[in-house]
Amino acid sequence: MVARFPTKRGKQKARTKQKKYHYMKSIAIIYGSSTEHTKDAAERMAELLADYSPTLSDIYDGDEEPFLTHDVLILGVSTWGVQDLQDDWNDFYPKLEKLDLKGKTVALFGLGDASIYPSSFVDAMGILYEILAEKGVTFIGEVPTDGYDFEYSRAVVDDKFVGLPLDDDYEPDLTEERIINWVEQLKPHLG
Ligand SMILES: Cc1cc2nc3c(=O)[nH]c(=O)nc-3n(C[C@H](O)[C@H](O)[C@H](O)COP(=O)(O)O)c2cc1C
Repeated sequence: MVARFPTKRGKQKARTKQKKYHYMKSIAIIYGSSTEHTKDAAERMAELLADYSPTLSDIYDGDEEPFLTHDVLILGVSTWGVQDLQDDWNDFYPKLEKLDLKGKTVALFGLGDASIYPSSFVDAMGILYEILAEKGVTFIGEVPTDGYDFEYSRAVVDDKFVGLPLDDDYEPDLTEERIINWVEQLKPHLG
């Protein structure tokens, strides 16, 4: 016999399927920036991800909430000196150390200058990676080193950058394209 109306179980299944299909992960874009290069990149990413309604915040505010209330964290940091986090990330560090981020998905981007600082290019992105790797997060958005002219970076792990390097000092013309490509690379992970 052909059922003329969907059964209760059928309806439930359909609802679950619909829910899964429409579920978008919540995204926080959090940046630390001293001369606004990282800030500009973060804002551009927020525009490109507008369909996902990301929140955008400056780590300068010291707010832990966006870390805890979102599924995906897109974190931007610039490098100021060898082995150093950007100042505002540095100030936030004691809080970051205590945050429980297990299960979060993390994408990193880092601003640097490969021309003047080829031996510490976007190191801070590597430092952030090392801190977060201990917290059981899943990283997305690794980038091949091809196309970048540098000598050493702490942000290179297994021959790839752990996130997106941007160089607004030496290669500003490439920033827009790099951001667009990277955001497209992230999208399949955003539900
Ligand atoms: C004093 C100083 C030190 C820097 N050290 C590094 C460095 O070690 N590695 C690097 O890749 N970039 C370095 N930079 C370049 C900055 O990271 C770059 O200008 C970046 O775009 C700044 O981003 P922000 O404006 O978001 O802070 C340095 C810049 C200055 C002025």
